[in-house]
Amino acid sequence: MNIRSIHHRVCGIAAIALSLLSLHPATAQWDSPGTVESFTQRQPGDYLFRTSSSTVEVTVLARDLVRVRLHPGGVTLPPPPADTRGRDTSWAVVKTAWPRTDVSVTDDSNAVTLTTAKLSVVIRRNPLRILFRDRAGNVINADDPVKGMCWAGRNVRVWKTMPADERYYGFGEKAGRLARNNSHVTMWNSDIPAYGPDTDPLYKSVPFFYGIRKGMAYGIFFDNTWRSSFDMGKESRSEYSFGAEDGLLEYYFLYGPAPADVLRRFTELVGRMPLPPRWSLGYQQSRWSYSPESRVREIARTFREKQIPCDVIYLDIDYMDGYRIFTWNKERFPAPQRMISDLRKDGFRIAVIVDPGIKVDSSYAAYRTGLAGSHFLTSPDGSVFTGDVWPGLCAFPDFTDASTRSWWGASFAGLAEAGVRGWWNDMNEPSVFNVPTKTVDLRVIHDDHGMRSPHGKNHNIYGMQMTRGTYEGIRALIPDERPFVLTRATYAGGQRYSAVWTGDNVASWEHLAMAVTMCLNLSVSGHAFVGADIGGFIGYPSGELFARWLQAGVFTPLMRAHSAINERNKEPWEYGTAFTDINRETINLRYRLLPYIYTVMETASRDGLPAMRPMIFSHPDEEAFQERADQFMFGDDLLVAPVLSEGATHRDVRLPAGGWYDFWTSKRLDGGRDITADAPVSRIPLFIRAGTILPMQQPVQYTDQAPIDPLTFVVYPATSGSDSSAYYEDDGISFRYQAGEFLRRTVRQEVHPGQIVVDFGKPEGTYAPSQRSLIVEIVDGSNFQRVTLDGKSIPKVSPQELSTLQQGWAIDPTRGVLTAKIPDARMRFRLVAQE
Ligand code: GLC
Repeated sequence: MNIRSIHHRVCGIAAIALSLLSLHPATAQWDSPGTVESFTQRQPGDYLFRTSSSTVEVTVLARDLVRVRLHPGGVTLPPPPADTRGRDTSWAVVKTAWPRTDVSVTDDSNAVTLTTAKLSVVIRRNPLRILFRDRAGNVINADDPVKGMCWAGRNVRVWKTMPADERYYGFGEKAGRLARNNSHVTMWNSDIPAYGPDTDPLYKSVPFFYGIRKGMAYGIFFDNTWRSSFDMGKESRSEYSFGAEDGLLEYYFLYGPAPADVLRRFTELVGRMPLPPRWSLGYQQSRWSYSPESRVREIARTFREKQIPCDVIYLDIDYMDGYRIFTWNKERFPAPQRMISDLRKDGFRIAVIVDPGIKVDSSYAAYRTGLAGSHFLTSPDGSVFTGDVWPGLCAFPDFTDASTRSWWGASFAGLAEAGVRGWWNDMNEPSVFNVPTKTVDLRVIHDDHGMRSPHGKNHNIYGMQMTRGTYEGIRALIPDERPFVLTRATYAGGQRYSAVWTGDNVASWEHLAMAVTMCLNLSVSGHAFVGADIGGFIGYPSGELFARWLQAGVFTPLMRAHSAINERNKEPWEYGTAFTDINRETINLRYRLLPYIYTVMETASRDGLPAMRPMIFSHPDEEAFQERADQFMFGDDLLVAPVLSEGATHRDVRLPAGGWYDFWTSKRLDGGRDITADAPVSRIPLFIRAGTILPMQQPVQYTDQAPIDPLTFVVYPATSGSDSSAYYEDDGISFRYQAGEFLRRTVRQEVHPGQIVVDFGKPEGTYAPSQRSLIVEIVDGSNFQRVTLDGKSIPKVSPQELSTLQQGWAIDPTRGVLTAKIPDARMRFRLVAQE
């Protein structure tokens, strides 16, 4: 037992007591920095402010990104990693070297002001308070004049003034609502099955939020992995605060003004989702558990027989031998490799669950090698910590230790060789049964960059580091394929390794609505690859609820149905023929939209903007959207309005300003108003922004069943002038895109009176799909008389003839759509339709 761990244990108890008091600063005797006594520039952009009781670092990383750190007690600042309070050993931040940015400094008796091209940071001297202004001088964010940054024992907290018209968003996986005003949220990864809209905390911790006011947004990332909390005006109407029970008061301030600017910067700081394999964007079918092998094969066969597309089948805990990770139950799965390769021939990939708990069993290889390599968490006295999970007593790998992550990653060799391609990381809060804390003992020691810190500091990153070990291990074992990892618990930046799902939800209409809100909250917190258990994990949905949930699931990047054990079957065909037909069409829609979905996900991997975006995120100045989570944007161009209530055949939709098209009828609609959308049970209300060119493909039974052919671009004419949409394609699975083997186009449309031009423009990338048909559909195009391709007319034919010809165009009078067909591989042409 070392001294630091004793210290932490004693302080841990004090900290719990203090954190209970954190809402009452007066009673908790908070200290704050006092008056600035000296101000020094350590290097350009990096400044130190000393008071008699503390040191505050203010570092300008970019013109719109500033880091603030408080060191109570006048500490000198030792170099990393000696500082046990986390300095420069962030688990979240990946970008630490920023190019120099111009900062001008003014220093007077009241304040020091640091000004960049986008904002000013004002550090008031007496007492030390920080505020941020935009270049026009408006205050964007300010420390509370009375409290500001504080500490009490090992607790740290900052109070900020709260303008009455500011709204707060983000916070990762929060249920219930979009705007978090008037609420108190906690970050502490927790396994809470059948959670409710007010349950907090849940499985993931992303201590990052936005303030949006008068259409302008800033973000704050409080990079502290201890149990932290955010009081957004519950304690007081005029201030909000955030803090943690221990660790550094360190936060990043990000200025927009657009919410998208904040998110781009945040994901630059903490990293972005890598480009997923295309198959992981297909439909995924799970339950606890498909077992034995014959049942897995039966599920696969039924999908194909019923012509319902599906790419992935999951094996839950029962595939293992007594829940021992990295093993197979030989009776239920006697020949996994053969099963998986047979299923692969039929287009399926297999994903398996892995939990962190390694069964205590000296005849079990992972337990033995884990012990031998000192990979398990230990108590301060050096003994291996054990706790109950599915297998009974388990030891828990210390994923904060790089050598443990390597051991863990390498342990997937057998499963990878058997052909498994999806890695479902569960129970990694970590969840422990039958103990009051529901997790490992808070005193166990983690390596934590060699700093040997207690679980309290590492709890919230445990799941994230498990996914890191998994991702990196699979990356090494299967070097030519992009790994697909899915996790329940994670932290800020965990998107670098894994997609996320929202844990053990319930088959209810309320949970369907909650799933949308949670996915939106996660999306704007950096987790772009999100989904919820379609149909609900616990309980049995009606056919209608399942169908509606599946429709919403088309527009969650992870489209996975799952179910708890002991529930009735919930596959898409389990609700009678009428619903089977509806569900088939719903999943077909997902596959038809894959070219768009893949393009949106590729963009997310490069610039951090997620597929699912709350309306307020795209339209920050439209007050009507402040609290609205019942409709959302998917990428730049699709407005999705899922039906969230039983028996509905219509629903209200608020269309933002501009022109829109109803996806189902191709009818043009004026925005900036509320409409009532038709919502028969067979389909989800879906609207396309006027000016969009929507890429779609032929329906397939699984993503790589056939090359995309035809590739269709549906042109939704802009109101006037020009507009453009992105299109991205590659081989869908390898890393060759990183060497330029992709195909990217900015497809432009120009709308002139009596004429529309569609221009596929400059090719980017070297990926060459095989020869195929391109179809250009022009909505509202029935008046056109002539179509030219690169200046040459192409023949007008009947819609029937068009299907047999290589090139030509036709009008579908019932839909009012002009359809042109062109043989193509390189996508470089200009098409003009004229009246
Ligand atoms: C947890 C997971 C759930 C899984 C079950 C059995 O409850 O959240 O998805 O099916 O464990 O492994």
